[in-house]
Amino acid sequence: MNRDVFRKFSLFSELDDGQLDKIASIAKPRKYAKDEVVFHADESGDVFCLIMNGKVKVTMISPEGKEIILSILGPGEFFGEMALLTDAPRSATVIAMKPLEITTIWRTDFLQMLADDFSIAAKILAELSRRLRTASLRIESLATMDVYGRLARYFLDLAKKDGTDQGDGYVAVVRPTHQSIANIIGTSRETVSRILHELIDRGLLISKGKTIFIRKDALDQFGP
Ligand code: CMP
Repeated sequence: MNRDVFRKFSLFSELDDGQLDKIASIAKPRKYAKDEVVFHADESGDVFCLIMNGKVKVTMISPEGKEIILSILGPGEFFGEMALLTDAPRSATVIAMKPLEITTIWRTDFLQMLADDFSIAAKILAELSRRLRTASLRIESLATMDVYGRLARYFLDLAKKDGTDQGDGYVAVVRPTHQSIANIIGTSRETVSRILHELIDRGLLISKGKTIFIRKDALDQFGP
């Protein structure tokens, strides 16, 4: 593989050409179709994965078959490090949400890469800390907020992560499906549709085609 494709990963931002060449020589590309499972929770894991193109959902499926989305990851992000770092099975199921291109690095190469370069290890620790913080906020909102508050907080988080500021107090985001929102905030699709209409009626959100405009100041009270 070519070293240039690894430059867009903040994980490798402090590496020189020689170090990037080394990573390019151990990484292997893989492709998945939309809805294809990259790996299942509880499988043993051998590879670390970097997302080149596409999007994945990190999910857990309850015994009743209900899907809970833990996170959605896109280009420049990584997954599959936990099983390698803890020598335990995969902690979640990872599924392609659209056609997906990843590159994989084998366990021994991944661990060697961390031993060789502390900047990579430090960035992985920082990302794990961010994910833990997000998970803690999620636990807090599930324990203390009603569905209305959780939906408002979901839109605030989405605005911060993927929003485009319109400069008029509104932030635009691509509309996710009601089912995927329901699977993230822990409720039913019907409840999401009902409360979404309430938020729209109250002027906190504006829905236009595939875009939702979020009125940031009005939702701020639901932030962490
Ligand atoms: P691993 O356990 O090897 O396989 C599943 C992957 O999903 C895991 O590594 C992480 O990369 C990712 N993952 C698991 N839980 C979360 C979470 N709460 N937030 C974001 N990513 C996660």
